[in-house]
Amino acid sequence: MSYKIAVIPGDGTGPEVVAEGLKCIAAAARKRGFDFETETFDFGGERYLRTGETLPDAALEELRGFDAIYLGAIGHPDVRPGILEKGILLRTRFELDQYINLRPVKLYPNVDCPLKDKGPADVDFVVVRENTEGLYSGAGGFLKKGTPDEVAVQESINTRKGVERCLRYAFEYTRRRNRENTLTLCGKTNVLTYAFDLWERTFNEIGDAEYADVKRDYAHVDAITMWMVKNPEWFDVIVTDNMFGDIITDLGAMIQGGMGVAAGGNINPEGVSMFEPIGGSAPKYTGMGVINPVAGIAAAQMMLDVLGETESAAILENAIIRVVGTKLKGMGAGEMGYSTSEVGNLIADEVART
Ligand code: IPM
Ligand code: MN
Repeated sequence: MSYKIAVIPGDGTGPEVVAEGLKCIAAAARKRGFDFETETFDFGGERYLRTGETLPDAALEELRGFDAIYLGAIGHPDVRPGILEKGILLRTRFELDQYINLRPVKLYPNVDCPLKDKGPADVDFVVVRENTEGLYSGAGGFLKKGTPDEVAVQESINTRKGVERCLRYAFEYTRRRNRENTLTLCGKTNVLTYAFDLWERTFNEIGDAEYADVKRDYAHVDAITMWMVKNPEWFDVIVTDNMFGDIITDLGAMIQGGMGVAAGGNINPEGVSMFEPIGGSAPKYTGMGVINPVAGIAAAQMMLDVLGETESAAILENAIIRVVGTKLKGMGAGEMGYSTSEVGNLIADEVART
């Protein structure tokens, strides 16, 4: 097989991290005998400051022609918050209909966990976040803006189609994962009685009709933040809407060892998906060779998995686990005991050796 991968290194430490991910994909490709070619796109803060462009329409069309997109980070200290996020990241998610944001929360051995008495056996679940609707849809507006009578409305859009396809993906994923076989819906049915009524009804309807073998559970979003800290071992797969998913996956990132580890996939199961470390551009570490590339490499691993290179993905994950578990001194920037590219080399070498 040969894959066409669009690479968007982006801002800050994005390029440094992406270079290490590509190094590891190359090692897996040599090992397993698949091919890949990359094309690099310069979207991000620098380009925006130079040209005023975030993601031109023509580029978006071009991206549709790839097998996957590999993204470093978006965010620039000189660009007002919101412009790049909306113009590049959210636009790609929406336009390419990447309706799933898949975020594994997995504590690797030897990684510091802020939770007392919890280890890798306790922190190992996956969040399936709806990625194209809810409060992120952009519905709403201002009335009498800038006056004392100003009104701001921001609506959460939940369509039966959008909710159902997300739930269906989560049920299928839970089955395939084959662990506790339990899918937890995270909502707020006690207050958001329209949106989460639709979620809950659809959850139970398709659960009864098509996924009777998958155990169903429910937790309010506020309660789930407690349980994720107190009893993370209760969770197998969690499914939730866009906003709640955004919030609980940052909490998830912390309990799996921080932003240096957490990766996510923006997935369109029928189209082009995009993979990214979820930590951001970390401008203060740019160009110093100190950023931890593990999250970026884990994003590359997810990309291989979704592309169908499941064996390569497994080899790469094991390589990450071995290097993190036996070599790295810490997971924070500048704390690994190795430079960014040395960490990439260690993992790529481990892939080759396996
Ligand atoms: C994330 C980020 C984005 C989001 C921002 C940068 C728009 O926080 O991927 O979780 O809110 O989805
Ligand atoms: Mn977020």
